[in-house]
Amino acid sequence: MSEIFEPIIVGFTCNWCSYRAADAAGTSRAKYPPNIRLIRLMCSGRLDPTFVFKAFAGGADGVMVAGCHPGDCHYVEQNYKTMRRFKMMQRTLEQLGVEPGRIKLVWASAAEGALLVKQMVEFIDEVRDLGPLNWPKWQAEDGFYAEMDNKAMEEQA
Ligand code: FES
Repeated sequence: MSEIFEPIIVGFTCNWCSYRAADAAGTSRAKYPPNIRLIRLMCSGRLDPTFVFKAFAGGADGVMVAGCHPGDCHYVEQNYKTMRRFKMMQRTLEQLGVEPGRIKLVWASAAEGALLVKQMVEFIDEVRDLGPLNWPKWQAEDGFYAEMDNKAMEEQA
């Protein structure tokens, strides 16, 4: 019997809109699958691309970034920076041989809990179709950790 793959998704939400949308979804009992783990940032513009790559390196199969609609960012135009960074992150993933569809950018106002849930469910299905990423396994197979250990030992000597 084959088991259904349940992807692990890390979701970065901004404090003012998308996190509140997720909260509103919870209070109105709109359910979303437990695959997604939310991390609250003050603004989507605070998302350092290294957070995304660290999530993948730590075992995530997909990363969702959610912020206020363009023009509604509480820090004026930081989500326009998010848009530009998002494109850059997609290109970087592609160059690493990772499907760019493993990262998704969505906009949700505090009143759009149901919309956010819909986008979460769709993204989980899309990542499920892509299959497991297994980035930590690649690193282990490529000797990444062994190399890091050797460097650390050399530094200590
Ligand atoms: S405060 Fe929500 S994207 Fe900036």
